[in-house]
Amino acid sequence: MINILILPGDGIGPEIMKQSVKIIKTCICFGYNINLIYNYIGGISIDKKNNPLTDDVLNICLTSDAILLGCVGGYKWNKSFNKPEEGLLKLRKKLNLFANIRPIKCPFKNIDFLIVRELNGGIYYGKPKGFSKQIINNIPTWYSYDTEIYNEQEIIRIVKLSFNLSINRKKKITSIDKSNVLYSSKLWRKIVNYISNFYKNIKINHLFIDYATIELIKNYNNFDVIVTSNIFGDIISDQCSLLTGSLGMLPSISINNKSICLFEPCHGSAPDIAGKNISNPIGMLLSLVMMFEYLLKNKKLSNKLFYSIYKVLSFGFCTVDMINYFNNTKLVSTNEFGDLVNYYFTYD
Ligand code: IPM
Ligand code: MN
Repeated sequence: MINILILPGDGIGPEIMKQSVKIIKTCICFGYNINLIYNYIGGISIDKKNNPLTDDVLNICLTSDAILLGCVGGYKWNKSFNKPEEGLLKLRKKLNLFANIRPIKCPFKNIDFLIVRELNGGIYYGKPKGFSKQIINNIPTWYSYDTEIYNEQEIIRIVKLSFNLSINRKKKITSIDKSNVLYSSKLWRKIVNYISNFYKNIKINHLFIDYATIELIKNYNNFDVIVTSNIFGDIISDQCSLLTGSLGMLPSISINNKSICLFEPCHGSAPDIAGKNISNPIGMLLSLVMMFEYLLKNKKLSNKLFYSIYKVLSFGFCTVDMINYFNNTKLVSTNEFGDLVNYYFTYD
């Protein structure tokens, strides 16, 4: 029996999650022994439990085989004391999910590279951080601060993982940093170079984050495995999503040293379009593809779902965000897209 914890979260989370659940239910009909458990994270958990991630849910996470998450956040909680995003950050930290792998893949365009984003450190978690008040020019003035901090062990584990991923790919790594300015990046680069000594057959290349954004658009075919910090990984993954059509297209897996994994799309909760049945479920569905591959270790099933998604797209069906990405597109709703994918997944 495989226990999957479903955390739809906020905004478009529930509607895209529904499409993945359709596919899981089809798998159950095929005979897979999967048990789904539903719970709350983010804003909805603040509304119901006054906490973006309760200890109860954390405990369920620890006893589940995997977590499938939609997305968190929304204007509704802008002024609340608790923030939906804190639930997700706490989940990543408490489960020690230090690596977030975001495949940038589009079979139509022959795009296929990975962003390996460090997920447990850097400016997201660095202390001190906060707001404070100080007299500046005789005026009481608010200021705020965050800390970008990485220790050697944190860098070593993410860089080693990236090199290991690279062995089964094109044996080419790009490390992205800002070591011309930031001390955290200077250490990062030094460690990448040190570790590369143990992987003589893997080619290593360094780019500064500012110039990397240009290379990623102009020469994306030069990339294979990218390794970078938490904040840089967050930013370039949104940028790279456009190579595949839309921010709604990207899935991810977050891993730790044990077996529990978190699967979630890379996008946010898009509160402006939530509940309209127009959001793109592909990032969510591709997260399920990753779950079939990495959790079930079932390449046949993951390929089946991957090709069902791309079959529907190749017929021109897409949600509104992708309407100008191909010629002769046909607009469908979130639900219709999910039904079409489920149809091919079931019968093809
Ligand atoms: C992501 C998201 C999150 C992040 C937010 C929702 C906290 O943007 O997964 O990329 O910044 O990590
Ligand atoms: Mn992001």
